[in-house]
Amino acid sequence: MSLDAILSRIDADLPQATERLLDLLRIPSISTDPAYKAECERAADWLVADLRALGVAAEKRATPGHPMVVGHVDGDGPHLLLYGHYDVQPVDPIELWDRDPFDPEVQDTAKGTVIRGRGAADDKGQLMTFVEACRAWKAETGRLPCKLTFFLEGEEESGSPSLVPFMTENADELKADLALICDTGLFDSRVPAITTMLRGLLGEELTITAPSRDLHSGMYGGIAMNPVRVLSKIIASLHDETGRVTVPGFYDGVPELPDELRQQWQGLAFDHARFLGDVGLSTPAGEQDRTPLEMIWARPTCEVNGIWGGYTGAGFKTVLPSQAHAKISFRLVGSQDPLAIRESFRKMVTEMLPPDCEVEFKGHGASTAGAFDTSDPAFEAARQALSQEWPDPAAYIGCGGSIPIAGHFARITETTPMLIGFGKDDDQLHSPNEKYDMESFHKGIRSWARVLDALTRAA
Ligand code: BES
Ligand code: ZN
Repeated sequence: MSLDAILSRIDADLPQATERLLDLLRIPSISTDPAYKAECERAADWLVADLRALGVAAEKRATPGHPMVVGHVDGDGPHLLLYGHYDVQPVDPIELWDRDPFDPEVQDTAKGTVIRGRGAADDKGQLMTFVEACRAWKAETGRLPCKLTFFLEGEEESGSPSLVPFMTENADELKADLALICDTGLFDSRVPAITTMLRGLLGEELTITAPSRDLHSGMYGGIAMNPVRVLSKIIASLHDETGRVTVPGFYDGVPELPDELRQQWQGLAFDHARFLGDVGLSTPAGEQDRTPLEMIWARPTCEVNGIWGGYTGAGFKTVLPSQAHAKISFRLVGSQDPLAIRESFRKMVTEMLPPDCEVEFKGHGASTAGAFDTSDPAFEAARQALSQEWPDPAAYIGCGGSIPIAGHFARITETTPMLIGFGKDDDQLHSPNEKYDMESFHKGIRSWARVLDALTRAA
């Protein structure tokens, strides 16, 4: 078998691969919104059919939520599992999209050719990079590179409620030598990356109720407790003036960056002025004594993701609201314990409540951070393979986002996760006008062919 021949086939097949991706992007598989349940099923069916076309024994597997797609193919060499997610984020605010998010298209822009549409980068475009690499492999050699398991999820963007039960029930089936996860990014457009650190995530929603109904703010203003005021004060107190989070015990389990990693990251020459400049900002806003890369990859955060209450419609209404709401998330690092932080946060909020106020909490996802061992020689083999494809050598990097399944592989199926992806910082994940660069897609497919080749040879 010749890797060059597979790479040439990938180049020649790029237009068709792009059409297939556009087809998948047309399915609005928004996992968090029950109105799109049938669309999630449709995306799973699409993938089952596509994998079957590759000779993979693939099935849609029911869960209490959206289905998993699981496929197996036998072969020699290492057993590799390929994970991606076919669900996408909601599209709002829809008015900020330049086109229908589910009518994707290839666009030529000043910064190159992009595939525009919801899910292009997160994660349909990425998961199709390894499917397409497998397709080219099969077309060229008549078989797939080694023993493979495909595991594609449909609830990643909504906290993966069915994932742990499914992985626990099917632990033997989902065990492999390595779990390749394609849901992360490049370091920059020259430097490919293997992500070795992910932050954990804790979501909390709170509702503060004061008066039993909305009131006229003239009739009651001044004498009645206003829950929006109470909530604002609580939110304002979650950080001190140096940017540290004030929830008691929050920093328990937060490690200092090891010197080796600090040096490695210094070598990456992260241009924070450009990173912030791209989104109209200039000044790092995290803990004052931390470097910009530490702020994103190695420090925990507390962010308000949404806050509402009272009258927010057109015009003006003199209302003193009965309720105020907020959604708050914490990114976690090291061995921070999400459940202990949840408890401490709730206690802190409850203790801050003035008379006549009540608070109700709703917990969203809770996942710990992950730091993955790279001592397996497969990592160096994969790093070298990636370095062949991109202008500069591949780096081991951190990621500010959360991919809880990486930790589940390590814990539940004792499978080492290896996170490789080709997204870029300006892909607008979770935002309007999401895109995936054609370069990410094309070189991503080529990268997987090289990595699969390296991993099957290394074994
Ligand atoms: N693909 C992202 C994770 C990611 C974010 C990778 C940024 C690289 C850069 C993933 O789909 C995601 O968005 N995860 C959620 C967590 C999930 C539990 C809702 C996140 O990080 O907010
Ligand atoms: Zn994702």
